[in-house]
Amino acid sequence: MNTDEIVQLCKQHTLYSWSAGGGVKPIPMAKAEGIYFWTTEGKRYIDFNSQLMSVNIGHGHPRVRDAIKAQADELMFAMPSAATAVRARLGKMLADLTPDPINTFFFTLGGAEANDNALRAAKLYTGRQKVLARYRSYHGASGATISLTGDPRRWPNEPGVGGVIHVLDPSPYEFSFGTTEEEITARSLSYLEEVIKSEGAHTIAAFFLETVTGTNGILVPPKGYLKGVRALCDKYGIVMICDEVMAGFGRTGSVYAFEHFGVVPDIVTAAKGLTSSYLPLGMMGISDAIAEHFQKNVFWGGLTYNAHPMLLACAEANIRVMLDEGMIENAAALEKVQRSEMDRLKAKHPSVKEGRCIGLFGIIELQKNAQGEPLAPFNSSSPAMDQLKVAFDERGLFTFVRWNAFMCNPPLCITEEQLREAYAIIDDCLDVADRHFEG
Ligand SMILES: Cc1ncc(COP(=O)(O)O)c(C=O)c1O
Repeated sequence: MNTDEIVQLCKQHTLYSWSAGGGVKPIPMAKAEGIYFWTTEGKRYIDFNSQLMSVNIGHGHPRVRDAIKAQADELMFAMPSAATAVRARLGKMLADLTPDPINTFFFTLGGAEANDNALRAAKLYTGRQKVLARYRSYHGASGATISLTGDPRRWPNEPGVGGVIHVLDPSPYEFSFGTTEEEITARSLSYLEEVIKSEGAHTIAAFFLETVTGTNGILVPPKGYLKGVRALCDKYGIVMICDEVMAGFGRTGSVYAFEHFGVVPDIVTAAKGLTSSYLPLGMMGISDAIAEHFQKNVFWGGLTYNAHPMLLACAEANIRVMLDEGMIENAAALEKVQRSEMDRLKAKHPSVKEGRCIGLFGIIELQKNAQGEPLAPFNSSSPAMDQLKVAFDERGLFTFVRWNAFMCNPPLCITEEQLREAYAIIDDCLDVADRHFEG
């Protein structure tokens, strides 16, 4: 098939997510390796978003490919009620890798299912029915998780499931809890406690939060915020659930993002980087207290593909590669480089409002004037952002351009030289955005 046939048939016979089919312009992908992928016409892109912030070890790692092949030769499928060698090994590996008291894992096919099951576990464990989540969040597109999601993707899916209470996170879009980190933390925690009391603490099963918010802005929590949330959850018997589907597995420079903030949740969920998306796998990890509950009480959940051997073999090899090749350390070390490049761009380009990053989890926000008004409105685009997207595409840099921002989330195997090469391209492309700066 030639490129046009591939694109045309994909568009004609398959639906694309979050889009009206008529408007989609899919990149015809043919192959990928390391930080790069190539189109069917041979054009090379730097993958500056690791596809969906998920190909953490980089594309096409041979050790993972070999592990998948070896598992296919050994055992391709086992029912979820079976015990398998790979399930035993991965469970133990995750228990060793995850801070105590999280030592027990349930495997799903992706992030939304991991969050669905975390919600289920919290409700069964506490006997409570409501759940807190934040506005600047994305937790998945399943029936329940799109209701947990705070961002505008929830709107067309409403009314959705009941019992979800959304709260402002410490960095709402336009409202401010204060000017210093201490003030923001103190006020947003007081507000949170007020909401908990007003809703009736005894009715709230869980608080769902992305440890570092992903799509909605790469928001690192202010100092003390997560410890404060942990304390409130303990005080009111609420299960703290950290959604690390995007932030987990090396992205922030540690296995889990919560490790940066001196807290351990009761439940952590992960997907994406768990297999670097080579195969679809999600998981929830539960604390010993919750695990003990489900030793005596039924866990009322299941999936045909729960603990699928092929997916687990992929995760096992992916994690080994990540650890053996020092990729998490690399992400931590390159934060400095990413930070300095963001600072350099801000000093040079008037359209750059702010760059934020932790590890190799980053975003650059653009402004249209010195007052900091966004270069595209909330939940919308603008000619300036559209043109920037075209410029990135022409220069062979793939990333997500969303509202007034674009993502900086390369694979964790990227070298300093490659990272600087990507920023040199971004530097050139930002001239396009500067032309829309009104002063
Ligand atoms: C923080 C977060 N949670 C959950 C999900 C949903 O994961 P999945 O698309 O694998 O269902 C995503 C996906 O982007 C995510 O970023």
